Amino acid sequence: MATRGSFSNRLGFVLAAAGSAVGLGNIWKFPFEVALGGGAAFVLMYLLFCFLLCFPVMVTEVTIGRKTQKNPVGAFTALGFKNWRFIGVLGLVAGVVILSFYNVIAGWAFGYFVEMASGNFAVSQNFGAFTSDWVKVGLYAIVFMFFTAFFVSKGVSGGIERLAKILMPSLIVMILILVGYSFTLPNAMEGVKFYLIPDVSAINIGTIGGALRQAFFSLSLGMGALITYGSYLSKNDNIVSSSAFITLADVGIAFIAGLMIFPLVAYNNGGDMSMVQSDQAGPGLIFITLPGVFETLGPGLGAFIGAFFFLLLSFAALTSTVSLLEVPVSYAVDELRMRRKPAVIVVAIIIFVVGIPSLLANGASDFFGTAFKLPRSSDFLSLVAGLADIMLLFGGFLIVSFAAFIWKKHNLHEEIASGYEGYENTFVKKGISFLITFLCPFILAILFVLVLLDNFFGIALI
Ligand code: PFF
Repeated sequence: MATRGSFSNRLGFVLAAAGSAVGLGNIWKFPFEVALGGGAAFVLMYLLFCFLLCFPVMVTEVTIGRKTQKNPVGAFTALGFKNWRFIGVLGLVAGVVILSFYNVIAGWAFGYFVEMASGNFAVSQNFGAFTSDWVKVGLYAIVFMFFTAFFVSKGVSGGIERLAKILMPSLIVMILILVGYSFTLPNAMEGVKFYLIPDVSAINIGTIGGALRQAFFSLSLGMGALITYGSYLSKNDNIVSSSAFITLADVGIAFIAGLMIFPLVAYNNGGDMSMVQSDQAGPGLIFITLPGVFETLGPGLGAFIGAFFFLLLSFAALTSTVSLLEVPVSYAVDELRMRRKPAVIVVAIIIFVVGIPSLLANGASDFFGTAFKLPRSSDFLSLVAGLADIMLLFGGFLIVSFAAFIWKKHNLHEEIASGYEGYENTFVKKGISFLITFLCPFILAILFVLVLLDNFFGIALI
């Protein structure tokens, strides 16, 4: 039987997992969620959730993966709890659902890059016309899925890890250049203030739920992506410090993306940030507002910076789509005994097809664009995106609860201790116990119910 593959070293794992975490969620979604959530108060909640609730879930996922060396479904069986495999199945479904719409947006980003790089700046003036052109966006989505499938088919160290090692550092350099640039624009500080000075009175279940969903999505948690990546990690590597690094990298890049975007938005609005919430918050923030800013720089420089920005967004998306595809592929390889290449082809085609309604949801089809009205969604794409968020929260809750109460925490600690010298007597061990057996399951359960009521039934209890 073919070997399962593994990361060549800890850096490979950390960069690939950080690559999974850092994606459209950081650069496209985070800023508009901040805008919707009212600015800095949202950022504050988000940071709190990332460190207190998500970090323990991450440690748990990686630990289960490394212990079992299996995909998320096989992992539960391997631990001896066959009845709990449904958690892995839910994760698999969530992965398919997420990639189905994520690939559409990644296709937009890539399409903007291609169009701007080839001098067609006009694409940015009419986002609606761009997304309604289903042939065009369909082609871009196919190309993006092809890239994703290509790197996944090359395997863990030869494809996923190599890609992350090149793209992650490039991404950071590109973002920093754009932050530097956006700070030189007039009114930049108004944007920074909106982003960083919290108005605590703005916190309600909308902000809390939004921040929690964003934290899970951004850290790729709750669906077993990190069980899968953890399954390729060596027993000599330190899970806690690796997870801490991944969390910091993801939060850090989202934070810096905000520093890049809000000054640009403020510049665009002449310093008036009150417009952000009403007109510009939403998926179009990056695709409408930013190109508008780039345009004011003149066609040459504007198109150059625009192309550069959308290339960056495409890079970030690619290391995430690769991790999303790897989850069902690892399942097909481990459990269905398929070879990697055919598994990649079959899964990629299925996911593309599942994504067709999302592809049509922004202008191409009236039905998929308007028939899905819920309190927090109107079209098919936002509906599945909201659904996926909920699945991640529920998955995260199930995974920590399983580890704490079914698998039992001493088993978790035993696996963490491998690669972490002296773990037994550390404060870290006590902290992880507290978070996993107490804070995470209970707070996640409560917040999950509140978010569900708010998102799907429009009932806001706080
Ligand atoms: N974390 C990715 C982002 O922020 O764009 C999205 C994602 C990737 C979510 C992988 C879940 C996942 F398993």
